[in-house]
Amino acid sequence: MQWAEQVSAVRVIGTGVMGRGIAQIAAAAGLAVELADARAEAVTSAVDQIGRMFDKLVGKGRMTAEQAAAARERLRPVDSPLAPTECDLVVEAVREDLATKRELFAELEKICPARAVFATNTSSLQVTSIATALDDPSRLAGLHFFNPVPLMRLVEVIPGARTAAWIPDALVDLVRRLGHTPVRATDTPGFLVNHAGRGLITEALQVLAEGVATTSDVDRICRDVLGLRMGPFELMDLTGLDVTHPAMESIWTGYYGDPRLRPSPITRTRLEAGLLGRKTGEGFYAYVDGVKQEEPEPQAPEAVARPVWSDSADLLDVLAGAGVQVERGPEPSAEAVVLVTPYGHSAATAARSADLPVARACGVDPLSTEARCTLSVHPACDAEFARSAWAALAATGRAVTVVRDSPGMVAQRILAAIVNTSCFIAEQRLASPADIDTAVRIALGYPRGPLEWGQQVGPRRVLSVLRALQSATGDPRYRPSRWLVERAELGLDLTETGTTPQDLLT
Ligand SMILES: NC(=O)c1ccc[n+]([C@@H]2O[C@H](COP(=O)([O-])OP(=O)(O)OC[C@H]3O[C@@H](n4cnc5c(N)ncnc54)[C@H](O)[C@@H]3O)[C@@H](O)[C@H]2O)c1
Repeated sequence: MQWAEQVSAVRVIGTGVMGRGIAQIAAAAGLAVELADARAEAVTSAVDQIGRMFDKLVGKGRMTAEQAAAARERLRPVDSPLAPTECDLVVEAVREDLATKRELFAELEKICPARAVFATNTSSLQVTSIATALDDPSRLAGLHFFNPVPLMRLVEVIPGARTAAWIPDALVDLVRRLGHTPVRATDTPGFLVNHAGRGLITEALQVLAEGVATTSDVDRICRDVLGLRMGPFELMDLTGLDVTHPAMESIWTGYYGDPRLRPSPITRTRLEAGLLGRKTGEGFYAYVDGVKQEEPEPQAPEAVARPVWSDSADLLDVLAGAGVQVERGPEPSAEAVVLVTPYGHSAATAARSADLPVARACGVDPLSTEARCTLSVHPACDAEFARSAWAALAATGRAVTVVRDSPGMVAQRILAAIVNTSCFIAEQRLASPADIDTAVRIALGYPRGPLEWGQQVGPRRVLSVLRALQSATGDPRYRPSRWLVERAELGLDLTETGTTPQDLLT
């Protein structure tokens, strides 16, 4: 804790969106904050805005008036990023351009005290590439904050290839002193959070590309079934495709075209067309006066003309409770609609392999919740039976999303991609399992950490979804990570590292 406790002054360079947030929390935590920017007006407006933020916090009772006044006193505008300084730490948050950041640090090295630690808030450049601009690259690390900084209480601490061993530990302590949660990440494309976030986005785009479900179908399922605060298409509209698409491309190319991270031509085309999202008034959704326009859900047919047979006794109980006529025999009668509830396989494959009448069979995603269930309809399904299945499910009072049959339907596919992506991160030791779960919960707002989530659903089930997709599509993007395969096979917890050779040797 020593260094972090002793830090008394920090210079924040680049007082845009991120720099002012960083300056705010540093001043509130008791550090003297020098604010510098290439544009003098950016510093003035940052000081004003931070002052207003402190006033707001006083209004909300989160700070006393005295604390706010003291924090405001600690803000020290300086007229140049290279003005003389006695600071202990520099946090750089200038525009995302490698040459700009390298030039800046090379100059800072000449004027800062030798003891000062350098940190970059880059989100997509390599920390190591920035550090090599220094005569002493060991004094620089990544300190990756999230937007808006005061509310997003996670910070990735990222050593470069030559960063001094003590610096990541010291920055972890400093982040805690700022009241945020530190996680340790590695200097790899997308670091931890942006890499982990690829699972949701790329799989949602793949589901859309295959015509399995529409954008609102996917968003509704993600909200009501997976419990995400926002569906992937709403999220892309909020962030803007000008940010999301290049991030996808840079992480994918950074991993030399790894198919599991492959971006989608859908977002490239929409980006070129200027359909960026909320900021342009049109993205995956249209926005009128800032309000998202969403098509109403299709109305389910009313009559349930046929009895329902299912391989799931739980589903039959729910249907019977809603007054639907159910069959509980070992096999469906010739009249019955057949509802299969597979993990992994498509409804058609599940029906065929259980010797059930395929033309009368639809799938119901076992991941459905009381709010919403997913009905999956394959191309050889008799339309009358599919309509009866829809009406029967709707009679339970749940919203029903009808999708094109696919291994894993929608929720299972997306969850499997989220879990598998994080399993790759764990497998490659890019972060610890605990940090992966913490980072994703805080920064992406998922209801659970992905490893914990996969464990809850069951590693074997997650694996079965990936294997079914891999075999149905032949697409290497579904290859399961060894972390997942090994833990599913050995019955180990996805959140635990398990015994390592080092454990045996010590
Ligand atoms: N916005 C985000 O969501 C976000 C999240 C995490 C990390 N980041 C990273 O943080 C950094 C800053 O992003 P931002 O969104 O705050 O950008 P921004 O455009 O809001 O602010 C950048 C500021 O840097 C100043 N600047 C540019 N070149 C400079 C130089 N050579 N010297 C001094 N000041 C200079 C600009 O005048 C501007 O005020 C980038 O590296 C970005 O990738 C951004």
